Amino acid sequence: MASTAAAIRAIGLSKSYGKRLAVDKLDLQVDRGELFGFLGPNGAGKTTTIRMALGLIAPTGGSIEILGLEVRSHRSQVLPRVGALVESPALYGYLSGRDNLRAIGNLLGGASEKRIDEVLDIVSLKGRDRDRVRTYSMGMKQRLGLAMALLNDPDVLILDEPANGLDPAGIVEMRDLLRELAGQGKTVFISSHVLSEVQQICTRVAIINHGKLVRVAPVHDLLQSSGEYEVKVDAPAEVLATLRLQPWAQQARVEDGIVVTPAPDGRGRNLIKFLVDSGHVPDSVSERQKDLEDIFLSLTGGDS
Ligand SMILES: Nc1ncnc2c1ncn2[C@@H]1O[C@H](COP(=O)(O)OP(=O)(O)OP(=O)(O)O)[C@@H](O)[C@H]1O
Ligand SMILES: [Mg+2]
Repeated sequence: MASTAAAIRAIGLSKSYGKRLAVDKLDLQVDRGELFGFLGPNGAGKTTTIRMALGLIAPTGGSIEILGLEVRSHRSQVLPRVGALVESPALYGYLSGRDNLRAIGNLLGGASEKRIDEVLDIVSLKGRDRDRVRTYSMGMKQRLGLAMALLNDPDVLILDEPANGLDPAGIVEMRDLLRELAGQGKTVFISSHVLSEVQQICTRVAIINHGKLVRVAPVHDLLQSSGEYEVKVDAPAEVLATLRLQPWAQQARVEDGIVVTPAPDGRGRNLIKFLVDSGHVPDSVSERQKDLEDIFLSLTGGDS
């Protein structure tokens, strides 16, 4: 196996269920050590893609490789290097959290009690590890699922909606944990339909809709300035009328009492000077950022 191979690589990956194309010719490459977000609305094809990446279902077209190996034909080499959490983890409700980890450990060829203690510690389940899983909350089950994914210290983590069922504090902990794991050189691939989640931790994101890839980009590229400024003034209508006389401000408008406008040469200082010179000293002028939500809606046609 070439040591430079991508962590995850999909080539024309497709999956159809009857006539429905759940995943449609997906081309995607995730490099090693990336914290990569896989974003899309409900039904976009995220879980289907992840199930193919884990060899749980077969593609109907194209292929998917992990660490340079086609997954389904190299399962025994690939899967020990991958930790996964897909939708709700499969847990034995009548066993304790610790015994669930022991059971998974046995499937993996044995996990030491020391390692089990470590992963319980990582997911903050230490005090509850001897309770039966059926008494766990949804967030605790999610954490136990993550502990299972971490048990064999995998190089690649593939997590389907890892924030599901977690409370705000749990989400922050999960975020810190994923950052830390990526910092240790692991590849972390997470799916989400919650954009703010991914925006905060991922270096790159792919956006998928109706099974098709719509965009792959570094988060900060997507978050670039919209090229517009938000201006707070006492008399928005008057300021708008003045602006509209300028060739650079034809797109100016008022939104919720705030003037939204381009600036001369795209520079905020020029806009401030213009406003002051025309007798409208603003209370504030700020650059409008596009957030991922806006970008997502515009890329997916707003039908999420
Ligand atoms: N086993 C199946 N049989 C038939 N259709 C399926 C099956 N699994 C998924 N689909 C369809 O494939 C499409 C993609 O589903 P998928 O579960 O991959 O979406 P998702 O992006 O994970 O959505 P969510 O955010 O709701 O988890 C959907 O239209 C779904 O109905
Ligand atoms: Mg899903």
